[in-house]
Amino acid sequence: MVDDERLRAGNGGPGSTDREAAARGEQGQAAASAARGQDAGVGGSCPPERRQLVRFAFYRIQPWWRGTPAEDRERAKTAFLNTVRGFSGRMLLRSYSLVGTRGDCDFLLWQVAQRLETLQEFATAVLSTPLGPYLTLPYSYLSMTRRSIYDIGDELGDRTLIDPGAGNYLFIYPFLKTRAWYALPKPERQAMMDDHIRVGRKYPSIRLNTTYSYGLDDQEFVVAFQGDDPAEFLDLVLELRESPASAYTLKDTPTFTCVQCNLRETLDALGGVGQAARDTETASEDGWIEVARMAEVPPGARKLIYVGAEAVALFHVDGALYAIADRCSHARGPLSEGEVADGAVTCPWHDARFDLRTGVPLDPPATTPVAVFPVEVRGEGIFIGPRRVATAAEAAGLAAR
Ligand code: FES
Repeated sequence: MVDDERLRAGNGGPGSTDREAAARGEQGQAAASAARGQDAGVGGSCPPERRQLVRFAFYRIQPWWRGTPAEDRERAKTAFLNTVRGFSGRMLLRSYSLVGTRGDCDFLLWQVAQRLETLQEFATAVLSTPLGPYLTLPYSYLSMTRRSIYDIGDELGDRTLIDPGAGNYLFIYPFLKTRAWYALPKPERQAMMDDHIRVGRKYPSIRLNTTYSYGLDDQEFVVAFQGDDPAEFLDLVLELRESPASAYTLKDTPTFTCVQCNLRETLDALGGVGQAARDTETASEDGWIEVARMAEVPPGARKLIYVGAEAVALFHVDGALYAIADRCSHARGPLSEGEVADGAVTCPWHDARFDLRTGVPLDPPATTPVAVFPVEVRGEGIFIGPRRVATAAEAAGLAAR
């Protein structure tokens, strides 16, 4: 399934280099001239540099959309996906679900573009899809990349280009400092920043993306952390509260905990009458679930299905049917979009290969198995049985073969 090429680009999948390079190349004069001489009043002019515009758009679906006919919802989602696909090459985009983590918004589209007009055209296109009448935008943050005015060390990069890395979760908040902070001598601020960075180094798996909003939007920064463990992020933030710089925080809410999903999954997570029911209504007495009809998955085809809340990739290859969890164990890449050969599927994002029968990783960077499901054909129906994940010992034995 090719739901959203930009998502794969943003996640470092195949083609990401080309598309990101294209996006960066587009920056050229407009961004450089915008950068020239502007330092948001915090310490002199900034040398010409390649910079990007960033938008964090948090959407909410009107609840009554979930009561519309399932076929209409499906058509609306497909149109939405195609619309987003039309912006491939002009912007980077990542999607995240907030269903289950926040009560006031449902999904985030994290957008990175070269020009404000691109962000505007994208917003208009999204609102013009059949989903548009049902969408509200409770939160929207606009920002730009730029170099930090502090010495933040090499490991945090120069912050002028967004390079979305792996991470199951994104934690975001707008951020404002007090005016008293800006009145402090710069060496004093640098010392507090050094302390901040020292704490951050204790949590190397949490990756920070800071973008700047001075004069563009209400906040001064938008801070976006990527990570795989909410507990680790919680501990980091708790520890940062005790740092001296924390006394100069004016605002750092609302905070958003976002779950990384491809766009198809993000839209499916919105739910709706008929979607959840399918899984339970078609379960047979032995607990196996009918997930598709044979006609829907002819030889050589694939289909993304759902078992409860779990996305599962169904493949019909070499005369057999395989069901494997859709999310790669490395960084949640969509296995349903991967190449299949020799009984294995290759993750489209970073090329980990998984055995279709066992879910065991055969090639890095993935190191842990993904779930697989037994598949049976009963009449014209395709049924899948209980979920299974190979144990570490099984995985080690199988991978060594
Ligand atoms: S997400 Fe990185 S290999 Fe799959």
